[in-house]
Amino acid sequence: MPAYRVMKGRLITARIYGNEADVGRGIQRAIEEGFVTREEIFVTTKMWTDDFDNGAEAINASLERLGLDYIDLMILHHSQPSNDVEAYQAMEQAVSEGKLRSIGLSNYYTPEDFDRLVNATSITPALLQNETHPYHQSMEMKEHLRQYGTVMESWFPLGGRGNTQTLFHDEVISGIAQAHGKTSAQIILRWHLQAGNIAIPGSSNEDHIQENFEIFDFELTDEEMEQMTGLDRNERFAGY
Ligand SMILES: NC(=O)c1ccc[n+]([C@@H]2O[C@H](COP(=O)([O-])OP(=O)(O)OC[C@H]3O[C@@H](n4cnc5c(N)ncnc54)[C@H](OP(=O)(O)O)[C@@H]3O)[C@@H](O)[C@H]2O)c1
Repeated sequence: MPAYRVMKGRLITARIYGNEADVGRGIQRAIEEGFVTREEIFVTTKMWTDDFDNGAEAINASLERLGLDYIDLMILHHSQPSNDVEAYQAMEQAVSEGKLRSIGLSNYYTPEDFDRLVNATSITPALLQNETHPYHQSMEMKEHLRQYGTVMESWFPLGGRGNTQTLFHDEVISGIAQAHGKTSAQIILRWHLQAGNIAIPGSSNEDHIQENFEIFDFELTDEEMEQMTGLDRNERFAGY
């Protein structure tokens, strides 16, 4: 698929996945060929834990690999109490220098851990990216985030590669899908939307990517939302 097709919407990348240079080349080409402007895309990357002691350098290296003079959002990849405050402060400094537009966190799973970082820093995290899907709805963290205005972004929004069929064949989810003439994937993504989560589904299948955008022409009823809430088991698929 041409890179510019993907870049019509939000764009996700992260330094640990080794894709910043490729993403940067795709952006460059899409801009040169007139498909998008820099302002029309939203570039996110993460700072990996090994870089936490050298945050400023890590940010500059990401900018260089991406070929950009600013990144829309950078987040810390995981909680790491030994030095994540220093890493976050490096991101705050980069905000003041115009290199980062917004900053946030990923993989902070308790209010205490989140507050540990927030109380030691100045800029409120714009978002928290945690594993969130119908079997792990992150209710406690979402409730906690409310006071900060921090948004929950769901990774593994469909359960993640290898786990999606478990969610897709869940009786409640597939039942709601049947009632709306939609797929289970669309029901889960619509649930994320109505539950106030930002969902970032991953796919390398063009039909699935298209399908995942087609969730704005129907709504889950209050009763269906309640049924979805009832699926929460506080159970993560990932082991970290
Ligand atoms: N912060 C973190 O620690 C962390 C950890 C893991 C992931 N993430 C991020 O979270 C995002 C999503 O992660 P993910 O891709 O692993 O999880 P995911 O979106 O829950 O699941 C991806 C799987 O869903 C399938 N899929 C997508 N749309 C579908 C559809 N309409 N119908 C059927 N199958 C569909 C994909 O297969 P096809 O390719 O065949 O469509 C793929 O196997 C990524 O941006 C990733 O970087 C963050």
